[in-house]
Amino acid sequence: MSNSIKLAILGLGTVGTGVINLINDNLNELKRRSGRDIIITEVGTRRHRDDIDPNIMQNSDLMATAASDNVDIVVEVIGGTTLAKDVIMHAIKNGKHVVTANKALLAEHGNEIFAFAEEHNVHVAYEAAVAGGIPIIKVMREALAANKIDWLAGIINGTGNFIMTEMRDKGRPFADVLSEAQELGYAEADPTFDVEGIDAAHKLALLASIAFGIPLQFDKVYCEGITGITLQDVNYAEELGYRIKHLGFAVRRDGQGNDEASGIELRVHPTLIPQDALLANVNGVKNAVLVNSHPLGQTLYCGDGAGAGATASAVMADVMDLVRVLGSKDSSDESNSNQNNHGHHVPHLAFIPEQLSDTPILRAEQMITGYYLRVHAYDSPGVLADITRILSDAGINIDAILQKPAHKVGQVPVIILTLPVVESQMNLAIEKIEKLDTITDKVVRIRLDELA
Ligand code: HSE
Repeated sequence: MSNSIKLAILGLGTVGTGVINLINDNLNELKRRSGRDIIITEVGTRRHRDDIDPNIMQNSDLMATAASDNVDIVVEVIGGTTLAKDVIMHAIKNGKHVVTANKALLAEHGNEIFAFAEEHNVHVAYEAAVAGGIPIIKVMREALAANKIDWLAGIINGTGNFIMTEMRDKGRPFADVLSEAQELGYAEADPTFDVEGIDAAHKLALLASIAFGIPLQFDKVYCEGITGITLQDVNYAEELGYRIKHLGFAVRRDGQGNDEASGIELRVHPTLIPQDALLANVNGVKNAVLVNSHPLGQTLYCGDGAGAGATASAVMADVMDLVRVLGSKDSSDESNSNQNNHGHHVPHLAFIPEQLSDTPILRAEQMITGYYLRVHAYDSPGVLADITRILSDAGINIDAILQKPAHKVGQVPVIILTLPVVESQMNLAIEKIEKLDTITDKVVRIRLDELA
């Protein structure tokens, strides 16, 4: 091995270009920190780019680049789950370490990819896949390695947070803010992934596996996006001292409480949280992850969750880790070859593969959360009593009620906040409320969490 580290960048979109710019801008810092020259030898791109350094080979055959002798580390920033999977598996088979920002691919095929990497004694590093520039993978896998994690809650989609912030602060229309997020390079190629919560669900699946030592189970994440959130609910929530944020939750339930099932909740959805909670004040494209662990307690990690610079920072942090794994001596020295030190590297999902647990993921109706309910009723005597009776019969504890004056002739919106309740009980209560003659519309429900 020469003293330089040779990178291939597969994909020259927002992130790939960001990585090239970062290397150019911070070349000296990278060398001073790693002791190596980090050079891009190849880029994989379908279309030739005139703005790329002519010393870098441009190759439209990504599989060839993934296996090239002129490459030590393959950086996959193509996105998607088909070609990206093929090139990563091919790179692994050819003994290359891989760095990827591809949360969709890992959430859906990570179990297979990580097992294949272990078989071939290489690493697949993925800091950039979760929460953009925040080093949350490193923190959870390494800095919190001595803790038992009880739950985590995070704003893990920058586009969604940007949209919610602009809507709340400036009253801007949803579509307008989404277009701006796309222009700024925050959104996914298919932005429904952002606004329907799918991107956050991908990231949550990864965080939960690291937190609890369970295999990746993206298909079991309960997922709701932000498209149903109205300015009306944003304003009522604020009036009651709460803020609506789109959050991902991974919660370990021990089955001790009333009606509590034992297992893990994996869910992403809009959530009312107290206005004075730190997470409530994480705005714009910022992401933040709050981790509750024992014995450390609550810790919060915050930073830009999307965009070229943030994602490139995370990609290159992984590259720097791998540079250290690769060692710095001549390739004739076996102990310092590409196969060096893997036994000392942190496991892909933080726990050694044989120790991953089969703790069940709870179904939606087993999940426990507080609720915000908006009920529209005819303005007639006894309507509030009917609603509260149904809730109390279901054992649901009301925390606050706000009844607005009739805004349409004869109709009143009633806002109710509840303490945590098992979802199946809330479903039954809502079904009964909607059957009341005095109720005019479907009940709007948004989950609520005090983050305590
Ligand atoms: N579309 C993603 C987001 C990019 O907005 O968070 C970073 O994963």
